[in-house]
Amino acid sequence: MELRLKNSVLRPWKLGDEPSLEKHANNRKIWINVRDHFPHPYTRGDAMRWVQHASLYLHETVFAITVDGVAVGSIGLVAKDDVYRKSMEIGYWLGEEFWGRGIVSEAVGAVTAYGFDRFDIVRIYADVFDRNLASARVLEKNGYVLEARLKRAVVKDGMITDALLYANVP
Ligand SMILES: CC(C)(COP(=O)(O)OP(=O)(O)OC[C@H]1O[C@@H](n2cnc3c(N)ncnc32)[C@H](O)[C@@H]1OP(=O)(O)O)[C@@H](O)C(=O)NCCC(=O)NCCS
Repeated sequence: MELRLKNSVLRPWKLGDEPSLEKHANNRKIWINVRDHFPHPYTRGDAMRWVQHASLYLHETVFAITVDGVAVGSIGLVAKDDVYRKSMEIGYWLGEEFWGRGIVSEAVGAVTAYGFDRFDIVRIYADVFDRNLASARVLEKNGYVLEARLKRAVVKDGMITDALLYANVP
């Protein structure tokens, strides 16, 4: 599956993406805004493990964000289970040198449409750390609505912070 957009091409992760993944993911400004399972520092070994896993198991749900053929970020959907099985969670990050060009705004729109089209779901959501105004903006521009402030829900880098729950429910 490949989504050709104006600012990027979204396609599955593949072997060979490791050097650019390591280069762009190894950034504290990214790590500070994502879950702790995202490594920091981000090593070549981390990149190899991710590419192997994503290319084998996540090719229908997670895309490399590529610019001029180079993987510079990631965007994907995580399926929920049990009573939440009609929901997916969206997540994304982009290499810092590409910020502010509308790349993720466009990608979130495309992956949201893809998710509703491809999977039997009724809800896509994201939770954003309180201070992450750029991410909140990207979601709002794509029809995600702020449903709740989850007070003191997150501990990141030793600090307790609120999370903002955004959902797209057509
Ligand atoms: C958040 C992130 C994905 C945004 O990607 P991007 O491609 O730079 O985003 P876009 O350029 O499409 O849009 C960013 C929007 O936020 C706005 N914005 C950026 N910084 C902002 C700030 N400090 N305050 C308010 N708005 C801000 C921009 O003006 C733009 O809105 P606009 O189009 O209305 O002008 C990127 O910065 C990133 O990877 N951050 C680190 C990881 C992360 O936060 N992941 C998401 C976890 S929920």
